[in-house]
Amino acid sequence: MSGIVFFKSKDLRMMRDFYQNKLGMKLWLDQGKCLIFSHLGMLIGFCQSDVAETEGTITFLYDSIALVDAAHARHRDVATSPAKLNPAFNIYHFWAKDPEGRTLEFQYFLKPSEIEGARKATIEILNPDSAKPKLLLTRMLPEAAMQELEDFFEIHANTGDCTLPRAELIEHIADKDALLCLLIDEIDAEVIKAAAKLKVISNYAVGYNNIDLDAAKACGIAICNTPGVLTESTADLAWALILATARRIPESESFTREGKFVGWEPLLFLGQDVHHKTLGILGMGRIGQAVARRASGFGMRVIYHAKDSKELDFAAELVDFDTLLREADVLSLHLPLNSQTKHLIGETELKAMKRSAILINTARGAIVDESALIRALQEGWIFAAGLDVYEQEPEIPDVLKSLPNAVLLPHIGSASFETREQMGSLAAKNAIAILQGNDAPARVL
Ligand code: GLV
Ligand code: GLV
Repeated sequence: MSGIVFFKSKDLRMMRDFYQNKLGMKLWLDQGKCLIFSHLGMLIGFCQSDVAETEGTITFLYDSIALVDAAHARHRDVATSPAKLNPAFNIYHFWAKDPEGRTLEFQYFLKPSEIEGARKATIEILNPDSAKPKLLLTRMLPEAAMQELEDFFEIHANTGDCTLPRAELIEHIADKDALLCLLIDEIDAEVIKAAAKLKVISNYAVGYNNIDLDAAKACGIAICNTPGVLTESTADLAWALILATARRIPESESFTREGKFVGWEPLLFLGQDVHHKTLGILGMGRIGQAVARRASGFGMRVIYHAKDSKELDFAAELVDFDTLLREADVLSLHLPLNSQTKHLIGETELKAMKRSAILINTARGAIVDESALIRALQEGWIFAAGLDVYEQEPEIPDVLKSLPNAVLLPHIGSASFETREQMGSLAAKNAIAILQGNDAPARVL
C-alpha cells in the first residue's frame, strides 16, 4: 500500500516548474490534467478536478536533522521560517510556501535517544552485599550471565537504556574490583587511572580495540574477551551480507513492499552470482575460517591473505595482498582493528578490486576508509558493500545511507539469542576467574 495526497491546482505548469524544477522532486506521472510527484517515498498529486482540496499542508519527512538542514539550505528562497527544533512536538523542521500558497513542511521526528532526558543511565546496586567483590556492569546482560555474576559479585549495574556516560564511568569505577563492559565503552588511560582497585576488565566482545592495553598493563589489570562463542554467528551474518549485496535483497524487498512489482521482467534487479566465484578472506582467524568454510556449499574458490599460512580443514590458497584484491569477487574482512589495520582498505585498494566485486565488513569500521568506500560505491569502482560496522559508530554518513548498493546493518554480527547468552556467561567466568586468582577462559593480557 502507498498513499497519495491530491490538491486542486489552477496552474499545473506552474506546479511542475516549482516542484520538479525548483524543489528537485521526481515527476512520477504526468497525465495531462494530473501531475504526480514522488519525494521521500511520498506521492503528491495536483489535478484540475474539483474533488481535490485547494489548500493544505504537505509534510515531507526526513531521516535526520542534517538532511532537514540540507533541504533548508537548498530551498532557502522559498522557506518561510528557519530550520529549528520544536520541543513541544519533538520535531526539527522548517516551513515553506508553494506558488499557490500551500504550506510545505520539511520535518524530522527526533529519535528517543535525541530527546533530552528520555534515555538515561542509572547505576543501581542489584544485590547489596558488602562481603562480595564489587563489579561495575556498564549495561544489563542476558539473564543467565546476570545470575552467574550475582553469585560472586555485588553488582553495580547501569540499568538504564543507554550507554554509561564517560563521567559516570569514571566516577563509579573508582572503588570497583572488576569491570564488565561493552565494545562501545572507551576504556582509555584516564578511565584506567581512575580505577584504583580494578583487577580485571572483562569485555563483552571478541574485539578489544576499545581498551588501552598499555595503560591496563602498566596497572597490572587483566583484560579478557569473548572469542570462539560468537564465531559461527558472525560468520552467518557475513554470509547474510554476501547474499544480500550480491543479489540486491534489501533493495528488491523494499521495491516489492512498495507495490512496485508489476510483473516478471528480464532485467529486474540483476545482481552478481555468488556460486563458483572467488571468496577472498583478509585475516584467516576463527571468524575468517568460519566464513570460508561455508563457501564450499557455494562451490567457491577461497583465497586468503594473512601473515602466515594456516593449517586449514578446507581448501584455500594463501595469496599476497595485491592478488587478494585483484582476484576476489567477494572480499570479506576479518581482522582486529589496531594501528596496522586502520584504513587498510582505502582508495588504492578499492580501485585495485574488480568492478563487479563486493566488500563485506563485519569486523571493525575503521579498517576501511569510509569516505573512499563511499566514492567507490558512487563511482562504481566496486559493485556493492555489505557493512555491519562503521568508522564512527553509531554515526553513519547520510550519503552512505542513501546509496542503493550499500547494505547497512547496526553491528549485529553476534546478535543471536544463543550467542549473546554464551558471551555473557564467558564474560562472567572471565571476571570471576581473575578475582579468584585462577586462569581465565579467555584472557588477552
Ligand atoms: C563484536 O564486534 C565483537 O567484537 O564482539
Ligand atoms: C576474532 O577475530 C576471532 O577469531 O574470534
